[in-house]
Amino acid sequence: MTGSSKSSKCTVRFLPDNVEAIVENGSSLLSAALAAGVHINASCGGMGVCGTCKVKINSGTVESKPTEKLTKDEFDKGFRQACNSSVLTDLEVTIPVESRLDKAVQTRERTKSSGVAATGWKYSPPFAKHYIELPPPTLDDNVSDLFRMMRELKASCELIDLPIDFEVIQKLPEVLRESNWKVTVSTLVSAARLRTPETACPKIINVEPGDTRNTHYALAIDVGTTTVCGQILDLNRGKIVSDSIVFNKQISYGADVITRIAYTQKPGGLIKLQEVVVASINEVIDRLLTNNKILRKDIGHLTVAGNTIMQQILLGLDPKYIRLAPYTPVANFIPLVKAKSLGIKVEDHVYVYIFPSVSSYVGGDIVSGVLAAGVNQRKKLTFFMDIGTNGEIVIGNSDWMVTASCSAGPAFEGGGIKFGMVAMSGAIQDFSINKETLEPSIKTIDDAKPKGICGSGLINTVAELLEACVIGQNGKFNTQLKSPRIREGTDNYEYVLAWANETQIDQDIVITEVDIDNLIRAKAAMYAGCHTLSRSVNITCSDFEQVILAGNFGSSLNIEKAITIGLLPDIPRDRFTFIGNASLSGARLVAFSEDMLDDSRKVAQMMTNIELSENPDFNNNYIAALFLPHTDQNSFPTVINNLNCISG
Ligand code: FES
Repeated sequence: MTGSSKSSKCTVRFLPDNVEAIVENGSSLLSAALAAGVHINASCGGMGVCGTCKVKINSGTVESKPTEKLTKDEFDKGFRQACNSSVLTDLEVTIPVESRLDKAVQTRERTKSSGVAATGWKYSPPFAKHYIELPPPTLDDNVSDLFRMMRELKASCELIDLPIDFEVIQKLPEVLRESNWKVTVSTLVSAARLRTPETACPKIINVEPGDTRNTHYALAIDVGTTTVCGQILDLNRGKIVSDSIVFNKQISYGADVITRIAYTQKPGGLIKLQEVVVASINEVIDRLLTNNKILRKDIGHLTVAGNTIMQQILLGLDPKYIRLAPYTPVANFIPLVKAKSLGIKVEDHVYVYIFPSVSSYVGGDIVSGVLAAGVNQRKKLTFFMDIGTNGEIVIGNSDWMVTASCSAGPAFEGGGIKFGMVAMSGAIQDFSINKETLEPSIKTIDDAKPKGICGSGLINTVAELLEACVIGQNGKFNTQLKSPRIREGTDNYEYVLAWANETQIDQDIVITEVDIDNLIRAKAAMYAGCHTLSRSVNITCSDFEQVILAGNFGSSLNIEKAITIGLLPDIPRDRFTFIGNASLSGARLVAFSEDMLDDSRKVAQMMTNIELSENPDFNNNYIAALFLPHTDQNSFPTVINNLNCISG
């Protein structure tokens, strides 16, 4: 790696995108990529510990030391960790496939609608349009423009003495006159604790020339840690027009919420993360508008659900205290916010409804999901679960609800796993093993050549290896077995899922004992959370009448395999239901119905949060669950019956 001489500025060219950044000499390569707007996986946010930011230096010089995340062979071939490499000269750098996000996934539209189990709600969008024709003023009737409009709203629409945004008054004289006194008035209702005819008072947020009632749209948005999903809703027909999904651009700054909080504490960090999540939302909106030939001016309302950290960063609220005991968010109930004030590209009058959250780690996405699942509408004892880095669980029914979050770690999203990756093209998502030959059969997303393994693939793989006695209940390999796929590697023993020549990354893709251990710890946290929360209300997991699995991960989960490893309780399988992206579904319901808008607030208020992080029962339950499926074999009778090689 020889290069041009040192100067205070260096040009770094990133391949395969062929994008350049000019940076100060000594800048980190990861920050150069961010400056160029190029994504390099950086799960740990540049702390040097995850090893996901591997790049190849084609020409030029960087300063970096060998680390345990790179083999000697890789180092000799010019591979470096972008986060701990300093730019010394002009560079040309290739980002290998395993360090990139898959653009095909970034642009893939979601075709599958999310499920809704809530019933009985009345269709009455909080955002409404009213067309009125006013008599022009005369010398005999020269009341103010505002009074004239209010008088007509009362006479024609039975809307009496509504509050009004000042900006509407400012533009009223022009709009009334240019439209020949024929206008459409838009109103918006906000969530109420208790809705009565007296409290059901919308406010006027816009006035437009002419009759615009036939173009009446809202947007529902789910701001996830990994992706941002949106739906454009036709409020005249009560229908989803289309949906879209993009990666949350914050992913370049760290994979999980804790890393993101850490980034916000750097100078300018909060502003940067706020900017990029807004850019992700704007990308979703642009795509929805372009694909459906809808004009931006016809969007009148936004509803947004996300976890507490995502919501706070979107709002520009410092999430610092979420991470520090006793873990406090800035606010659980957020008043209506003007979308434009956040940088969202819609008309000036458009407001965003942000879902209420319950605590620092049980956010608006869970409230939205519970609402969509209709948990608050039924007597049935329900266990609602969103599996992820931060797993959230809710137990309850229409009378009561308790909730908790369990810090499962990033394994379910591929983090901390040697060849882990998020669920996108090329990820191994299913696995089975021939118990005689120990040869695998794998299935990848999009049937692409494998390049890693995602959360569902990891669960299925560990369950199959356990059932085939390739690993024991402690997650350790049976080294007596004769197979070229079972071998000693750098992280102790490992199993080869795919040979190098079968992959996109020209390396053997393996699952290691360290990976299995990380998965066991993640599933133990989720199960211990469920067990501890159940015990806190004097029930057991077998009392659940239904189990609702939410989140993108949930829909690809194999329930049988998840029970085999002890992630889900061993109860009759027909009690389990997937609800998909329930957070997005709840956001949609709130755009469609004032009733659901009010219920979103009530659901958040009725949830009692139980803090597990300092709970001694949780710690005991967690330790007991560090086994496959569990140290208490009686809790998993159907699994134990199927295991041929019970071990210790
Ligand atoms: S090791 Fe470089 S971002 Fe994690």
